[in-house]
Amino acid sequence: MTQTVVILLGAPGAGKGTQAVRLAQALGMPHVSTGDLFRANLAGGTALGAKARGYMDQGELVPDELVLEMLFDRVAQPDCGLGYLLDGFPRTLAQAEALGQRLGENHPTVINIEVPDSAIEKRIVERRTCKDCGSIFHLTFHPPAKAGVCDQCSGELTQRKDDTAEVVRTRLQEYHAKTQPLVQYYSSRSGLCTVDGQNAQEEVFDACMACLGRRMEVRQ
Ligand code: AP5
Ligand code: MG
Repeated sequence: MTQTVVILLGAPGAGKGTQAVRLAQALGMPHVSTGDLFRANLAGGTALGAKARGYMDQGELVPDELVLEMLFDRVAQPDCGLGYLLDGFPRTLAQAEALGQRLGENHPTVINIEVPDSAIEKRIVERRTCKDCGSIFHLTFHPPAKAGVCDQCSGELTQRKDDTAEVVRTRLQEYHAKTQPLVQYYSSRSGLCTVDGQNAQEEVFDACMACLGRRMEVRQ
């Protein structure tokens, strides 16, 4: 059976994680975030986490070979058998090529969430994440009902170490230099949808679902 593979592209803070949680639920497929996988390795004190830490803290991309091994191990798990939703992968042409080789003729559905750089810093520095369930909040745009407490599970809300104005500048540079070229890469191959990530979260979700509906119809 053909796997359904969905890729969410977008700058840091564009809303990939926010949308991925809802889309994965709506589509009934696992949400695979390379950033979350690295953070789990950091928290677990693994050798991979130790190798990735310096890059992540500086806002640089982790080298492709470390990312690819971790990602391909994850998507080989049984829950990914029918498909999976990728958040934060691929991020370089080499990663896209490696995924393409793995998928062969099975082209992924690619959604590019577009947000201008001018809006990114506020998104990043005011983000808060639940340390227990990973739910994502924003002090202005999506505040929790009670300050510092997760609406979903009452866990403590924390700030990611790389969510500073200084580190976000490097993350944006890395994005423009290494990841943004993937928009052209996928446009000229399997095609991609671009959605306006500056709209309200609900509207962005609807636009992503409309894109998925169109792409899946085309393929049937
Ligand atoms: P990763 O964890 O993937 O971080 P990122 O790409 O920088 O993206 P973010 O998670 O910061 O943003 P997001 O798009 O998920 O936005 P969110 O939904 O949270 O990667 C971290 C690091 O790991 C990298 O720097 C790198 O070192 C390494 N790494 C990971 N993958 C790698 C790979 N493939 N190759 C190499 N290295 C890799 O939203 C942000 C905020 O905005 C939230 O507060 C949210 O509430 C708010 N928000 C969301 N949507 C809206 C909206 N529509 N309106 C207003 N606010 C909104
Ligand atoms: Mg994210």
